[in-house]
Amino acid sequence: MQALQLDGAAGRRELVDPFGRGITYLRVSVTDRCDFRCVYCMSENMSFLPKAEVLTLEELDRLCSAFIARGVRKLRLTGGEPLVRRGIMTLVESLSRHLRSGQLDELTLTTNGSQLGKYAEAIKAAGVRRINVSLDTLDAEKFRTITRWGSLDQVLAGIAAAQAAGLKIKINTVALKGVNDDEFPRLIEWAHGRGMDLTLIEVMPLGEIGEGRLEQYLPLSIVRARLAERYRLEDIDYRTGGPARYVRVAETGGRLGFITPMTHNFCESCNRVRITCTGTLYMCLGQEDAADLRKPLRASEANDLLLAAIDEAIGRKPKGHDFIIDRRHQRPALARHMSVTGG
Ligand SMILES: C[S@@+](CC[C@H](N)C(=O)[O-])C[C@H]1O[C@@H](n2cnc3c(N)ncnc32)[C@H](O)[C@@H]1O
Ligand code: SF4
Repeated sequence: MQALQLDGAAGRRELVDPFGRGITYLRVSVTDRCDFRCVYCMSENMSFLPKAEVLTLEELDRLCSAFIARGVRKLRLTGGEPLVRRGIMTLVESLSRHLRSGQLDELTLTTNGSQLGKYAEAIKAAGVRRINVSLDTLDAEKFRTITRWGSLDQVLAGIAAAQAAGLKIKINTVALKGVNDDEFPRLIEWAHGRGMDLTLIEVMPLGEIGEGRLEQYLPLSIVRARLAERYRLEDIDYRTGGPARYVRVAETGGRLGFITPMTHNFCESCNRVRITCTGTLYMCLGQEDAADLRKPLRASEANDLLLAAIDEAIGRKPKGHDFIIDRRHQRPALARHMSVTGG
């Protein structure tokens, strides 16, 4: 089925899926590699893709620009760890031309923070206003256990560098049963005390990781009820274009988000699609269906084949996902890891 194309305000043809959802948000994984091995995301001995399969920086730029020409207004670079991709700033700086032209509202990235000390200023100078940093604990030993290879000090220094550079930061914390569930108040107070929002995320059944999901899974409905015993949580309308629902914590004055793919289906308002670093387009994080955009991208220097493939794929965007983690479903819902589709 072909995607509907509506004339946007700027006269551009925009992408609308079969359920009437405008596709305005693209998340691009720029590498499958990472300097961490978080226990819920990767196995310790991951094998990575051969270089030839991974899109070059120029190809990534072309792909992103094609989506922007089709109405995408928000672009998030992710991974793997986006900041370990060699030459990443060349891509960020090149894509920032779409901010200057007004075609793009926001260019942002999701990072584990390890390389922010090195890149924060350049990222800010390229027109990025806010970034997401993933941080699951403030305990150095626990941090090492969760990330296997990471250093908490390095990440905290990276966050400080990003704030000093003037970047707004949202902290993302995956809720892990028996691992960091005793730390949420500390994390909330730490983040809010430094002017950062914090969002809690339910662990999703993506990829074989060599450990039981059931042991990790903690429904945020339970977390929220526990936090409500300690804080006044006021519902607010604040939205960032993503699936998080926010409350204001009266005691800290800061915002706390909940992303609940498992307990609350947020698909109705889904405006996003994802591309892997090999140019595979996933129309839904929770479904297998995908479209290969690398082939049309490499087949010709003109964008006609690529744009046709994008239109065709958006015409197949499914209504939603149905993740399940329970005792009868111990296998991952999807074989691919979050580091492939990029969170
Ligand atoms: C895959 S990472 C990529 C970007 C970067 N490396 C980082 O960690 O922020 C993006 C986000 O996905 C989250 N994530 C990874 N695997 C997950 C899973 N199985 N369930 C829920 N969130 C997951 C991470 O915690 C991180 O916040
Ligand atoms: S969550 Fe991010 S930092 Fe952790 S292993 Fe996955 S890609 Fe790397």
